[in-house]
Amino acid sequence: MFQTRSGTFKDQVIVKNLDDLPSPYLSGAFDLSRTRSVEVAVARGCNRSCSYCVINESPLRYFSFERIKLEVEYILSRAPRVKKIMAGVADMYENGPLAAKLLPLLRRAAESRKITVSFYANVASLHKVELLKLSDSRWFRIEIGVQSMNPAALGLCNRGATVRVIAKHIDLMAQYAPKAHKILGLIRGLPKDTTAGYLTTLEWALSTGMQLSVNQLRLVQGTEFNIEPEKFGLTVGADYPYFVLSTSSMSANDMHRLRAITDRVMFMVKLISPHPALQKHFQALAAGFARSKKFPRVTLALAFASLVGRMEGRLAQAWLYCPV
Ligand SMILES: C[S@@+](CC[C@H](N)C(=O)[O-])C[C@H]1O[C@@H](n2cnc3c(N)ncnc32)[C@H](O)[C@@H]1O
Ligand code: SF4
Repeated sequence: MFQTRSGTFKDQVIVKNLDDLPSPYLSGAFDLSRTRSVEVAVARGCNRSCSYCVINESPLRYFSFERIKLEVEYILSRAPRVKKIMAGVADMYENGPLAAKLLPLLRRAAESRKITVSFYANVASLHKVELLKLSDSRWFRIEIGVQSMNPAALGLCNRGATVRVIAKHIDLMAQYAPKAHKILGLIRGLPKDTTAGYLTTLEWALSTGMQLSVNQLRLVQGTEFNIEPEKFGLTVGADYPYFVLSTSSMSANDMHRLRAITDRVMFMVKLISPHPALQKHFQALAAGFARSKKFPRVTLALAFASLVGRMEGRLAQAWLYCPV
């Protein structure tokens, strides 16, 4: 069995119906008695054409609901210690009829067995309010691909959602799935992005109160950005994972600085996002900076990280001189 840009092949024949592929679970290939984390394949490939992504190298196809249900039931009955299920799909909300059956199935499993269920979604699909309502469980961990709030960078990536649509859809997600654990997926180092554009993205992301997952752009073989990196002014590290080091609008120094800023901001996000009271204080404090600072939340997160860094230094010193 192998995968190429044009599809999945089994015995040299292209697989049209994913259910024809053998299930590693149902065929009994795994002993799940001590397994804590599993992935259930919902789909393969993607029909969108984001310029940095390799998942779209094969067309989008789904397993049937019946096959996925059998796998989930098999896992629940054979994996008593399972704590995490990753539902493997590029965008959970793309196939509405399947998601309408799958989300309740996963939710029942998650809530009855206290299992975290994670999956990806594309921000462009978040207008499907009925599906968002079905996702409102504190056991769901949903990573929403946003990537950037800089229109120039978004346009070049073929993302298909404008800044206005992204903001509106994230509001819908917050409104209709308030209990779900929501993570915004962002990319640092996109062509046409700038220092100000990236900080604007970070500032907006902090304003949502959601968690963040920030990836440095990698050049992956076969993707549009990798075919003509010079067209986008991209310089790339010599070794895997081939991180982009600079672009025509961001120098290596800029990228380095933005990485340091991101690390500090992430420190703050991890600390406050699980606690609504801390989150409220953070937003209120940042509002106090809003008149004097262009990026008040980023500024506050940096100030906080630097304060903690200094305190940690002092605590370490105190520990060094502790007489016991
Ligand atoms: C598997 S993708 C699926 C996300 C979803 N389909 C979407 O609309 O973005 C998950 C995340 O991986 C990151 N990612 C994908 N390709 C990347 C690349 N070449 N460099 C850096 N991050 C990448 C993006 O941040 C993306 O949100
Ligand atoms: S980033 Fe998401 S939507 Fe875009 S091609 Fe990759 S999987 Fe598809």
